[in-house]
Amino acid sequence: MKEHLTVGRVAELAGVSVRTLHHYDEIGLARPSARSAAGYRVYSAADVERLREVLAYRRLGFGLREIADLVDDPDTDAVAHLHRLRRLLLEQRDRAAATVTAIDAELAARARGIHTTSEEQLMVFGARLYESIGSAYPATRRTEPRIAAQVLAALGDARTVLNVGAGTGSYEPRDRDVIAVEPSAAMRAQRPPDAAPCVAASAERLPFADGSFDPAMAFSTLHHWDDPVAGLREMRRVARRVVVFTHDTSEAGWRHRFWLSRDYLPEVAGLVAGRPPVDELARAIGARMEPVLVPWDCADGFFEAYWRRPAAYLEEPVRRAVSVWSRVGPEAERRAVDALDADLASGRWAERNRDLVDLEAAELGLRLLIA
Ligand SMILES: C[S@@+](CC[C@H](N)C(=O)[O-])C[C@H]1O[C@@H](n2cnc3c(N)ncnc32)[C@H](O)[C@@H]1O
Repeated sequence: MKEHLTVGRVAELAGVSVRTLHHYDEIGLARPSARSAAGYRVYSAADVERLREVLAYRRLGFGLREIADLVDDPDTDAVAHLHRLRRLLLEQRDRAAATVTAIDAELAARARGIHTTSEEQLMVFGARLYESIGSAYPATRRTEPRIAAQVLAALGDARTVLNVGAGTGSYEPRDRDVIAVEPSAAMRAQRPPDAAPCVAASAERLPFADGSFDPAMAFSTLHHWDDPVAGLREMRRVARRVVVFTHDTSEAGWRHRFWLSRDYLPEVAGLVAGRPPVDELARAIGARMEPVLVPWDCADGFFEAYWRRPAAYLEEPVRRAVSVWSRVGPEAERRAVDALDADLASGRWAERNRDLVDLEAAELGLRLLIA
């Protein structure tokens, strides 16, 4: 009997109204199925467990019908619900933290006199891709020294470097005269105070005279450009040498080489549909292509970085710093993460990817274009 709780007591403990509990009872979502000695309907321990799940999913913003499907799922036991609820709540917390960071970035931009247009202000709050993920970027995106060394070697010993789509400046050589170009106010505002001067412009229209720079570099940005071929031609126009880090998104590239897009997130195919293939981009500026291997402990958290550390993709901050996850949408993201989570727990991922465990670096279709 001790385990049984009256409706009033449950309402008090859970911080919900008696009316809400009656409603859940009426629609069959969470019922007090037991009777007290005095004949009142009371919640048994099992009723409370179910109600707790209902309330937690409700707090996360799920609709009542959706919650009914979730709590009635015979394949999900109480522990699985707790794991899922925990992950969803952490995600919600991280999203709130990212929004706070976005607000801070906008405040910092305003304090530094950086003009933000109405469009940019909306982007900061998530209406458009890059501004919304920009605030989450610094959490996992930093210079990977082995890849930086390859970029530096390709840049040669030139003094004046243009860095296009520079973001927070991860791969900018510190010992050269660098000018950065970055269209996003949120990203510009996050550049360290000692970073190179940054111009608000886009790759497709670089505000510089022909041949102004020795090399122009672009790192992990080309896939965001509206017109990558026009952007590359602009780089070629303003610089004598061009070095671009990008990925091969063809069938033979990372879409099929990388287990994440192949087995869990086939939606990436839709993201790159209609984009020019990497060899066409290389041809546009007469570039040669050099493969870039991804070390198993890659310091820069780009999409492919955790190929040998799959559990990292279950972490919200890891995903929020990579645009692919925002672009595929929350449904695909949740499905992919749940499936990966299950395969890691069951050992299926390890079985399927046995050949990766001993690899120090992987060829996943990442390329330097050097012209
Ligand atoms: C993945 S981040 C890479 C930033 C930086 N290069 C790095 O490696 O840390 C992509 C950047 O490209 C910028 N970007 C988007 N569209 C662009 C365009 N049309 N021209 C130049 N940069 C662009 C975004 O604002 C963002 O800062």
